[in-house]
Amino acid sequence: MPLPRSLFCRDAPQDHDLTVTGGKWPAGLTGELVISAPHPDTFDAPHPFFGEGMMYRLSLAAGSHGAAPGTFAWRQSTIASPSARLRAARPDVFTATMVGVQSPFGPVNAANTAPVPWGDRLFATWDAGRPTEVDPLTFAYLGEVGHRSQWINLEVGPQPVLPRVMSTAHPVIDPDRNVMWTVNHSWGSLHVVRWDGEGPIERWPIAGASIPQSVHTISQTRDWLIVADCAYKVEPQVLSGGSRTQPANPSGPVHLIRKADLDRTPPGHDVPCQMFELAPETNHYYATYDDTDGIAILFEHTENADIAMTQKAGDIDALGRPCDPALRGLYGFPMAPDRTTYLVFDPDRGTTVHRAEQHDPERLWSRQLNAIDWSTEGRTAPTMHHTVHQGFRPEAITQEMLALYRDRVDPSLLPNGETPPLLVTSSMPDLAVIGSWELGQDDFPSSPIFVPRDPGADANKSRYSGSDPGGHDGWVVLPVMNDGGFRVEVYDASAIGAGPVATASKPGMIVPFALHAAWMPRAVSTAGDGHSRLSFSDELERVGELPGDLADVARQVADDLRHGVPLGT
Ligand SMILES: [Fe+2]
Repeated sequence: MPLPRSLFCRDAPQDHDLTVTGGKWPAGLTGELVISAPHPDTFDAPHPFFGEGMMYRLSLAAGSHGAAPGTFAWRQSTIASPSARLRAARPDVFTATMVGVQSPFGPVNAANTAPVPWGDRLFATWDAGRPTEVDPLTFAYLGEVGHRSQWINLEVGPQPVLPRVMSTAHPVIDPDRNVMWTVNHSWGSLHVVRWDGEGPIERWPIAGASIPQSVHTISQTRDWLIVADCAYKVEPQVLSGGSRTQPANPSGPVHLIRKADLDRTPPGHDVPCQMFELAPETNHYYATYDDTDGIAILFEHTENADIAMTQKAGDIDALGRPCDPALRGLYGFPMAPDRTTYLVFDPDRGTTVHRAEQHDPERLWSRQLNAIDWSTEGRTAPTMHHTVHQGFRPEAITQEMLALYRDRVDPSLLPNGETPPLLVTSSMPDLAVIGSWELGQDDFPSSPIFVPRDPGADANKSRYSGSDPGGHDGWVVLPVMNDGGFRVEVYDASAIGAGPVATASKPGMIVPFALHAAWMPRAVSTAGDGHSRLSFSDELERVGELPGDLADVARQVADDLRHGVPLGT
């Protein structure tokens, strides 16, 4: 059975009310599932990852946010950012490429990869753009983080009003400082960025750091920040439509940066780091916040996977079959079984202890996204890590990818045919698989989230924490794409292997490809919360570089944003 062909369905997303169609919805399940995704309008691009950002939100309590009693509100919207508005006004001057959407205004900030909650505030992020604040209730665009002049702009091509800012889709919120930590990199150099929620960002160059490829994640402990190179390779010829000639790097540097060094150094001045080389390659990693016994990091390696490559016309899959045009644009799935490691770095001695590893070539393939207890308490002492694995999917691997990685792929590890998707629970810190549930071969499980059982019950704990934090006491909520209809499954986080306790769906509802998801305890409007935010009107200093008609469009977009004019009116 194949991957859903509706993954790249271009029908306009709609609001829906879901009903429970299986099991019993847990009474204590509350809050909001928020999901970032590229808008399907842009799925005909060479890489569907780069469509304008949109958000979905599912209210986990029945009868809220306009849903009838007993039903669950599924709501969605494009983020009406300056990028999205400019493109809507002049679609003829925008060009989709393998590395993003370009225009005479500058590159689109796609803001489509991960929802990042910060208290009641919500940000949509992307690796090649500034974090974009969104109203979690209305999805209205509120502003980007930091004026462009405070970031390093990667000036490749014209960018009079839309700068290219290389950052990360996974910033972190520091619970002790109440700031956002993220990065800004340019031509291999690394800068750490701190933002206190309003006004200018602060930025420090990291002495001796190098980013050979890109950055997708920043992680933190109480005293340290961790920034690793990401296995997303962009070769120069790809910018002009050429083919890849090299696989992603098989290893990369991991930088450990002491927060105290940043605290005491004026922005703009060098801050030191310690560097370790890490293999295999990786995109996502999560440090345990408590660093009393060293800097312990869970690495979700992405060995021999290439999400920078996509299927195109004429491609042949791993089994020698022509690739289905319905999957055109699908990124390259792993050509090696999943490997997850838990490493402990000692920055004083310069040593690394390999604490645990998970590797099951028979069952665990194509790990993509995870559910984590993101509360401060949950990150301080995690108990469980939940992951989605798509299974070995030969139709998502092309012969071109296999040829590029031929020196690294071990054919003896490739299963005979496809294997099913799994939802897996691993115990922390030993990474033992303590529960798993097999989904249908025609399912495409998307990003799961962890929802604590009783958030806010203990006044001594943070808002996002339940009374027994860590990732075991609560639910895992899993959106599942399927050509027969979209559904949301709810699992007891401590008993994934028992299967879903409840399923919600609506007949005929299709949800296409989406990226990361997150949980918020509630969705309230933040537009009037008193925070000052960057206005697009303040970023028109270079509007004079545009031809007159496009300059008029940019000014009109700034006016529309200032007056809250909805997109498309
Ligand atoms: Fe990610």
